[in-house]
Amino acid sequence: MRMRFKPYARPELLACDFHAHDPFHCAGHWKERFARPEQPLMLELGCGKGGFISQLASAHPENNYMGFDITDKVLILAKRKIEAAYAEKGLTPDNVCILSADIERILKVMNEKDTVSRIYINFCNPWSKNAGSNKHRLTHPRQLIQYRTFLEDGAEIYFKTDDDDLFRDSLSYFPAAGFEILWSTYDLHENEPEWNIRTEHEGMFTEMGIKIKALIARKLPGDESVTWVEPKQLAKELDAQDEEAETQEAPDAQM
Ligand SMILES: C[S@@+](CC[C@H](N)C(=O)[O-])C[C@H]1O[C@@H](n2cnc3c(N)ncnc32)[C@H](O)[C@@H]1O
Repeated sequence: MRMRFKPYARPELLACDFHAHDPFHCAGHWKERFARPEQPLMLELGCGKGGFISQLASAHPENNYMGFDITDKVLILAKRKIEAAYAEKGLTPDNVCILSADIERILKVMNEKDTVSRIYINFCNPWSKNAGSNKHRLTHPRQLIQYRTFLEDGAEIYFKTDDDDLFRDSLSYFPAAGFEILWSTYDLHENEPEWNIRTEHEGMFTEMGIKIKALIARKLPGDESVTWVEPKQLAKELDAQDEEAETQEAPDAQM
């Protein structure tokens, strides 16, 4: 169901201390926003209504958390859920921050100085498999290579999805982008790990009888671990190889 425009969302977010009002001027300085800047920094990409980040961040004051979403219509609900979760525990939300940004352009908001130790990607839009669409997937190598800019070596990505195609493709996206898959499952709830926090979409898909797929991947050091080549670049390289092969064959052909 399409969510309606919420005219109260922006003013309420602008009055909230843990909402970043101007994320485009914070690249390289995110850690300084938090009460304890020295703590590990973790991101949730596409935090939606905030069920996950509100529970995770309020249970782990020893880490700092940032929740990204593209629209205020859901961020406002995340803001309220975070306030409620911290109030219930008698805590101040000083280790959490939410912001509105397009994750496909995340390098406008984050840079290599924002060393991040973990990313959570929960139920991102699956997009279709075709080449025009799949580049928008938040686990597409194009995206994963962007995340490498600010992820420390050894940092982890926790990924969950309901979508079979996206999951299967992601099993090859991660290694191509220089990540080692440490663990994966086609049925997360069969032996649900104690660290799992069910998100809004996870609850919805589970009620529909759809199995939840999940993996944990670790960033390998060094650019040499990245084998992904953009399709256009790959096509150029293959053309160049064909041309070279043809010129090598030509002398024989004249004999
Ligand atoms: C299917 S919902 C999942 C929400 C939540 N993670 C959950 O599991 O319930 C996907 C969320 O990602 C956000 N999103 C999709 N594409 C995005 C992008 N390029 N940048 C930022 N947020 C995005 C959407 O607004 C939406 O809230």
